[in-house]
Amino acid sequence: MGTPELVPERVDPPASVGRPEATVVPLALTVNGVAYAEGVDPHRTLLRLIRDDLGLVGPKEGCDDSECGACMILLDGQPVNACSYLALQAAGRSVTTVEGLGTADHLHPLQRAFLEAGGIQCGFCTPGMLISAAALLAADTQPSDEAIRDALAGNLCRCTGYQPIFAAVRQAAAELRAEDAPAS
Ligand code: FES
Ligand code: FES
Repeated sequence: MGTPELVPERVDPPASVGRPEATVVPLALTVNGVAYAEGVDPHRTLLRLIRDDLGLVGPKEGCDDSECGACMILLDGQPVNACSYLALQAAGRSVTTVEGLGTADHLHPLQRAFLEAGGIQCGFCTPGMLISAAALLAADTQPSDEAIRDALAGNLCRCTGYQPIFAAVRQAAAELRAEDAPAS
């Protein structure tokens, strides 16, 4: 009789054991005016879909926990943290990222004002700041100082350049008011 095996030979389980098959469900949404039809994992966040699947890297991943606002996008015109939204929650809805605000040749007044007022340092918070400010000015081109602060309260700037950002929003609001004013 041979020596009993004290340590049985290790046998790796098949790769599928313990790992449920990835589920992919269909999702249709509009991003920056373009219709997309994607198959997504139901657990995928909207931020991952936007950045990794659609290649729109304007929205940033900062805290990944609804704290910093770097991932802010507009969902049917309302600012939301894309890191804390499931992609499926955007089904049938309209998403706007910072890429959809303006183009290099035709900047949104906020983008121009941020540049002119020095509202950008490292730039990490800028897409989220622009989105929050755009939502504010779409609803009110004459916001009070308090309303501007409230609108930006969910956006953190690690470079602490809040004053130029605040000034840029005021400047853009003035520009939008002038655009809206009837020609004399
Ligand atoms: S990355 Fe979404 S709130 Fe910070
Ligand atoms: S400009 Fe750097 S985080 Fe705001």
